[in-house]
Amino acid sequence: MAAVAKPGRMNAFSTTHDWESADYEPTLPVTEKSNPLTRDIDRASASSIVKMLQACDAQMFQEKSQTEYQRLLSEEIVKTLMEVAERVRLILKDPQDSLVVLSGCGTSGRLAFFMASGFNRELQRLNYAPICSYVIAGGDRALFSSQEAPEDDPTLGALRLKKVSEGKKRVLFIGVSCGLSAPFVAGQLDFCLRHPDVYTPVLVGFNPAHQARNEPLPGCTLTFRSVVTRMEELAKTQKAFLINPALGPEAISGSSRMKGGSATKILLEVVFSASFSRTPVTFNGILQHMRSYKKALDFTYSHSEEIAVLTEAAGRSLQCGRQVCYLGWGSLGLLGLIDASECKPTFGADYEDIRGFVSGGYKELGNNEGDLTLMGPEFSISHDDFLDRVLPRLTDDDTVLLLYSDSDDVDEVAKLAHRVREKTPNIHAAYHQTDGGTAAQQDDINKLCSSTINFTWSQETPKRLQHMRELSTKLLLNAVSTGAHILKGKVFKNYMVDLQVTNSKLYRRAARLLQELSSHSESQSEEALLKAIYQVDKLSEDIMTCSLDTHTHTAGKAKKVVPLALVCLLTGCSIKEAETRLEHQPIVREAVEACLKSS
Ligand code: F6P
Repeated sequence: MAAVAKPGRMNAFSTTHDWESADYEPTLPVTEKSNPLTRDIDRASASSIVKMLQACDAQMFQEKSQTEYQRLLSEEIVKTLMEVAERVRLILKDPQDSLVVLSGCGTSGRLAFFMASGFNRELQRLNYAPICSYVIAGGDRALFSSQEAPEDDPTLGALRLKKVSEGKKRVLFIGVSCGLSAPFVAGQLDFCLRHPDVYTPVLVGFNPAHQARNEPLPGCTLTFRSVVTRMEELAKTQKAFLINPALGPEAISGSSRMKGGSATKILLEVVFSASFSRTPVTFNGILQHMRSYKKALDFTYSHSEEIAVLTEAAGRSLQCGRQVCYLGWGSLGLLGLIDASECKPTFGADYEDIRGFVSGGYKELGNNEGDLTLMGPEFSISHDDFLDRVLPRLTDDDTVLLLYSDSDDVDEVAKLAHRVREKTPNIHAAYHQTDGGTAAQQDDINKLCSSTINFTWSQETPKRLQHMRELSTKLLLNAVSTGAHILKGKVFKNYMVDLQVTNSKLYRRAARLLQELSSHSESQSEEALLKAIYQVDKLSEDIMTCSLDTHTHTAGKAKKVVPLALVCLLTGCSIKEAETRLEHQPIVREAVEACLKSS
């Protein structure tokens, strides 16, 4: 059913600035607020879901209004991007002794890897030495699997940064934390501030500075906010840089992989493209480049009906316990891996529910730690792995999506499409091409696929075109994986109600959500969370005195922690009874609604 405005509630498509008012969820930073546009996303049809995501994504490019918030296209942000681009230019002049390090946790770290690799490839093409490195919390295994715990370790962050930049005389450190919240990144920024002779810190995130997380970092008295305050001071003399426009709340509250990830990609590509160019860095050049991403966004969503068809197919697969596979080529394939890996913490998904595979596997990736296949089945990421391990079990209920462009080996795409089609008709394609040329094999692929989204781009410079296709693919995949989990009932209103509670940020988010949905007190909500984590009806002294780290570590081994806690809170039942209820009603949204009705 489409989202319909209810009397007395905000109309989903007419109040895009509501979240900016001072009394809208005043205790939450922008990245954790719930978006008024998506309140009813859990009850929407696939096509309404895509329209809501489009409206949410469009907020990224909204101009500054009469509020405190900087926006993506604000003058201050564009000027800071110019300054950072000049710093990258300095590094380019001295590649031997200098380095740019991109770092983050979860999707922010995956994008750090994605862009560092892409920028180095581009530099090599332009006959420059590669200058970029990446650090991701949890190491390379976090590139495609969910590893949230290392996000809480500021010392580890600083150590990794120190190691990767050993011996360098000048380092531009770009730390990404969409919520200005990850202790891992705060530790790195603090390390830079303590070694200003070598390191210049840049922070990318999407909350105003005063909304940075203010909880002491594990093991020290610093907070993310205190680090940001020091940076603000140094920013006055360009010894540190803050790039923190507000994008509006995420479509699914707190899901910073969505707009946060897209804007990270946009901002860093704009900076690096400007610094690699042989022409001067200009205000208008940067602004125009940013605006071209808005066009790419509009162009992507001009295919919203086709995106909805795909979302619906993926949703059907998840609803019947089957899987969705992205089979991609080049950077588009890598975006498939990135999209898939975030479903576990966000929706309590299994790694097999949505999986990515990329042509060439680890050879294509060129990651720091090389081939990780032996680490376990989650780390099988090549098309050969798909053919060996997944294809034999594929049924009509699984959904396969091919992701490629006219610069990939379309012959190879056609061959793989034939193999998949022998097992299932539920094969789809998202194909990017440039005006005026369609590969002959494309007709063949179209016939094999039950739906094809054909993105035909007008001529641009090849590099820009690639970046636009990537953003477009990211938006498409975010819509498919988010939409499919919504259709499966993994979202309540616009909250991720079955999130994993595997680090301090997720723990706090879960406790807040329980409080919000149950109307119980903060302490009752946290108690219920702990009972669900430890699977007990009474909290022992031992549990009460355990560290947050122990709680989140234990939560990593449990399933459906938040739904269990919520059912207990709403009905007063025991953990065992809550488990039975959820077994009988595995659709989390419906289980929650049933409890809410009877409470
Ligand atoms: O803790 C997991 C997570 O929320 C991921 O979903 C997200 O990509 C990552 O943290 C990083 O968040 P941030 O960019 O706000 O530090």
